[in-house]
Amino acid sequence: MKFMTSPRSMLVTSALPYANGPIHLGHMLEHIQSDIFVRYHRAIGDQVYYVCADDCHGTPIMIKANNMGISPVELITQVGVEHKADFDGFMISYDNYYRTHSPENQQFSTEIYKKLRDAGYISTRTISQLYDPEKNMFLPDRFVKGTCPRCGAKDQYGDNCEVCSATYDPTELKDAYSTVSGAKPVLKESEHYFFDLPKFNDFLQDFVHNSGAISTAMANKLDEWFKQGLKEWDISRDAPYFGFEIPDTDNKFFYVWLDAPIGYMASFKNFCDRNGIDFDEFFKADSDKELYHFIGKDILYFHSLFWPATLKGAGLRLPNGVFVHGYVTVNGAKMSKSKGTFIQASTYLKHLPAECLRYYFASKLTSDAVDLDLSLDDFQAKINSDIVGKIVNLASRCAGFITKRFEGKLATEPYDSELMAKLGAISETVNQAYASRNYADAVRAIMGLADEANRYIDREAPWVIAKEEGQDDKLQRVCTDGLNAFKTIITYLSPVLPELYSKAQEFLNDELKFTTAATPLLDHTINKFKPMFTRIDPKSIEAMIEDSKQDLKAAQVSAKPAPVAAESAPAAAAAAATAAAAESQYEPLESEITIDDFAKIDLRVATIIKAEHVEGARKLLRLELDVGFEKRQVFAGIKAAYKDPEALVGRQVIVVANLKARQMKFGMSQGMIMAAGPGGEDVFLLSPDSGAKNGDRVH
Ligand code: 2FM
Ligand code: ZN
Repeated sequence: MKFMTSPRSMLVTSALPYANGPIHLGHMLEHIQSDIFVRYHRAIGDQVYYVCADDCHGTPIMIKANNMGISPVELITQVGVEHKADFDGFMISYDNYYRTHSPENQQFSTEIYKKLRDAGYISTRTISQLYDPEKNMFLPDRFVKGTCPRCGAKDQYGDNCEVCSATYDPTELKDAYSTVSGAKPVLKESEHYFFDLPKFNDFLQDFVHNSGAISTAMANKLDEWFKQGLKEWDISRDAPYFGFEIPDTDNKFFYVWLDAPIGYMASFKNFCDRNGIDFDEFFKADSDKELYHFIGKDILYFHSLFWPATLKGAGLRLPNGVFVHGYVTVNGAKMSKSKGTFIQASTYLKHLPAECLRYYFASKLTSDAVDLDLSLDDFQAKINSDIVGKIVNLASRCAGFITKRFEGKLATEPYDSELMAKLGAISETVNQAYASRNYADAVRAIMGLADEANRYIDREAPWVIAKEEGQDDKLQRVCTDGLNAFKTIITYLSPVLPELYSKAQEFLNDELKFTTAATPLLDHTINKFKPMFTRIDPKSIEAMIEDSKQDLKAAQVSAKPAPVAAESAPAAAAAAATAAAAESQYEPLESEITIDDFAKIDLRVATIIKAEHVEGARKLLRLELDVGFEKRQVFAGIKAAYKDPEALVGRQVIVVANLKARQMKFGMSQGMIMAAGPGGEDVFLLSPDSGAKNGDRVH
């Protein structure tokens, strides 16, 4: 990594969240990680601009708006306000939070495209794609479902099978249907625009391996793609599409991923124009300003290959660093809606202070792209022990004596020069750790100092000195030492805990500069100590989990009441990408049916009389049903959601009783039980109210 002379001047970004779903704790990891980096650099005197935006374009947003009966612009405006409130709530200090659907972004995208085109990097060719003949639109893979060409599982997404993990082309799906209208897709030709990524192969190899912008681990990952050979990148989409029209074309639009990273530039430009900053200084090819992108590992390809190649091809500067983080897990598992661990930012903020999460994430963050587990017990214990027990308590143990006995005045000299030396001794570790994004090391060093300082106060016991005659000087100096240790600790934690830091500034009556964090305050008057932080009550965590389960129910009520066939419940998108999770919240509404169509589906009440695992099946349970007039066997893809099959015995369910029986790998499946939910662990069986008898028809 090249470090420029100090003070440095940099632009920092976080990935742009899609404007069609709420911000959740998976997003927050990235925004907290980048905010700590930004606050650290600002604290040491660097000039830092920090921008983000909502990523507004693409088919999912267009379809979601359509399903909600509003325009895409109305949707992104509504979501934009919610996102901004969430980031404010977590004290993310953006200079500008904008949106990609903006005039600046349209202008930049157009200009960059024209430069690429004029330099010979754009070509066109005709491709065949699945097309929805009812909605008159081409279908992205995720809007096509059908039967897996390999294992025969039904309702699989257009590019991969959740049951047997096969990947394929959507045209290979059997019985394919459009999830937008239900219609059978047809193949249709269309001219597409391609960006010549292979031409940038040598440049990209050099950028990835030698520029210092990409970590070795990520460069190794990218090598897998280099080995497969870079492919031309399809940057156009046909109308209808919510996006920017490609200049000099007939109704072609930029693919969302073309204009999304340009959105970083557009957000910054919008900020520059309002604040008299020279934008070009930052983006000209030979800029000496630094540019850093924080991203999740799922979008490495876009930021380390497409984006640098786009910038290079358009004659613009390159990023100095692409910093990649892993995913958030909760209690050791992927965030789950049914367990209430898919926690939205706003739900968290209703129950817990933002700084608790900031501190917890910081205490575990390194510069590696490893997943970070939010263990809720550990979270509560760590906050209560570290922030309340060791940091705030240190101040409260010393402050009273200074206020009551010395009119708020700190001593003119420290008592223990060894402890004072320890304040400065962690400075290098802390600075290195923040600069290299190994925040866990910074927190460890700072908390080591907190332990030292608390041991010192235990040893010297000011409450005992206070009772001794003629020991005023010692009392004042010992308490001054304790408060100076507190000063160093909270100042070094200021990038992580901005609110507590600001309360400490008020209490210590000092600006608490980061660069002089270890310099003791002496002969200085402080203010009265006020409570600064409350312990986490486990009830707040329980309430947050409960609320998160309610969020799921609310989403299901407002979403299309699409019954998910449990026989082949679709799981959430394979990649645990935060955005994909957010996007999959609502499925598009099926096309309208008549009452006669509905009458063809014979739904019956049944009781599960046996439920067991199926050897060799990853997703299925074997169920025996009493349908009143007969017994049936059904294979249901509910294993992930119902881990204890025995517990299902005796439960009434609804079965599609006239569905043609199907030979599956493990036996004949005679019907399909009804369930709601996106899939995986989040599948919820439907049951009738009490009183319904097996065999009763559902009308
Ligand atoms: O994966 C996502 O959530 C994208 N919306 C990120 C875009 S980042 C940037 F390139 F715009
Ligand atoms: Zn399959």
